Amino acid sequence: MLPDRCETPQIFCRLPGVAVYVAKSNLIRAASLVLLAVAFGFVTALPAAAQNADIGRRMWIGETDCKDCHGWAANGIPDEPRSSKGANLRETILTVEQISETILCGRPGTGMPHYDARAYNDDRCYGLTREQLGPDTPSRAAIALVKRHADSLAMFIVEHFKDAGPPTLAECIDLMGAESIRCDALR
Ligand code: HEC
Repeated sequence: MLPDRCETPQIFCRLPGVAVYVAKSNLIRAASLVLLAVAFGFVTALPAAAQNADIGRRMWIGETDCKDCHGWAANGIPDEPRSSKGANLRETILTVEQISETILCGRPGTGMPHYDARAYNDDRCYGLTREQLGPDTPSRAAIALVKRHADSLAMFIVEHFKDAGPPTLAECIDLMGAESIRCDALR
């Protein structure tokens, strides 16, 4: 069995001593031996927390829709004007654990959707089901996230945004790239 991180195709996963790229297509699978050889001795020396925050960073920038409602700077100004306004995560008082739970479970009675595909089918979220919540059940997000990905995202949010003060141009360029129209307002 491959370790659990291998479920996500674009992320390197770790086996004892080596990194293996999990390829979905047979074509790439054929090249995996070569990759294995290249990857040998290439296992990153970064501590696990930094690695996770880095995965979270990539998810925030590219693989999730949080920015639509929360804005690229997580300050609650939506990137997508038609989206509902998200909370200002720069001023959140929540911990990594609480943020991860909010991502997976959403927030009942508000516009914050749930990213755990099975939330509210059983009572894994706040001990509540959709039968109990009725119209207050959070809507299902456009994508699904598993716990370790929600954890990585939460780690990035706390390390990067929480208590960071107002967004800066340097931060925008770092996250979104110098060409991004998102940064124009800060120039
Ligand atoms: C459709 C819009 C929408 C999307 C998409 C969305 N959120 Fe939210 N989010 C909200 C709203 C609205 C709230 C405020 C809920 C409330 O009123 O308490 C919120 C609240 C939160 C909170 C609680 C903040 C606090 O301090 O109480 C966190 C954490 C959060 N969102 C993270 C995320 C992350 C991470 C993503 C992406 C994986 C995401 N959200 C995607 C709308 C959204």
